[in-house]
Amino acid sequence: MPGNFQLSPDLLAEEVRQAAELGLGGVILFGIPDTKDGVGSDAMSGFGIIPQALRAAKEAAPELLLVTDVCFCEYTDHGHCGVVAEAGGRVDVDNDATLKMLGQQAVAHARAGADMVAPSGMMDGMVGAIRGRLDADGLSHVPVMSYAAKYASASYGPLREAAECSPQFGDRRSYQMDPAAAAGQAIREVELDLAEGADIVMVKPALPYLDIIRQLHDHFPGVPLAAYNVSGEFSMVEAAAARGWVDRKAVALEWLLSIRRAGASIILTYWAKDVARWM
Ligand code: PBG
Ligand code: ZN
Repeated sequence: MPGNFQLSPDLLAEEVRQAAELGLGGVILFGIPDTKDGVGSDAMSGFGIIPQALRAAKEAAPELLLVTDVCFCEYTDHGHCGVVAEAGGRVDVDNDATLKMLGQQAVAHARAGADMVAPSGMMDGMVGAIRGRLDADGLSHVPVMSYAAKYASASYGPLREAAECSPQFGDRRSYQMDPAAAAGQAIREVELDLAEGADIVMVKPALPYLDIIRQLHDHFPGVPLAAYNVSGEFSMVEAAAARGWVDRKAVALEWLLSIRRAGASIILTYWAKDVARWM
């Protein structure tokens, strides 16, 4: 993934210092553990890679908002977003067994200094499970930003390579949304997440789903709406710009503007530092 690297906690410290100096609204951390296993143990440990990273980042940039991606695909050896089990003759993610583990992961992050947690696995009930565990552990002040309408997109490839989280068998279509689904499905997903206590809801990817962003914006006035400008969207522009086919800065700004115009009030983008400099 062009210009994006795995960082150890010591290098992360320098990165978040820059992010804070540039005035970014925050950063989101994805953890890549030394060892993966069937249940993604590192993700639930208070000494895992994300708690280590959070402590280093908080020390380096105490005022910067630290968000953590809460999922299991980077931590499991099979690369799925939860634990897997056989059911009806096929191996698939065990939604309900994963919920308890998501709660543990969120608590580990919040205790280590995460200012907000962002579950990205599209498990049914994930927001409620996380909210319940955080509240029970005295962490009711930590908000949840839910990847509420996350589609089984073809645009996640560069991130999956960078974060070593490709599924080793099958795909994610049993838990992520069907790109062909009518917009009503996204509305129902958001309704459920809000009822379970989500503070911010997200649409992902952003650009092929600007219609969804617009409809959610109109349907849920006042609800903070985030959009994730994903790795494939970013990398296509970087590749074309490297060949001299497009003007990187002009295209990036135009694309991000379109996400804003569609109704997102928060944008997650790999261009964040560039945009802060340009603006
Ligand atoms: C993992 C996760 C993915 C992304 C964010 N969190 C990959 C996936 O769902 O396969 C994609 C982000 C991007 O492509 O920029 N749950
Ligand atoms: Zn995942």
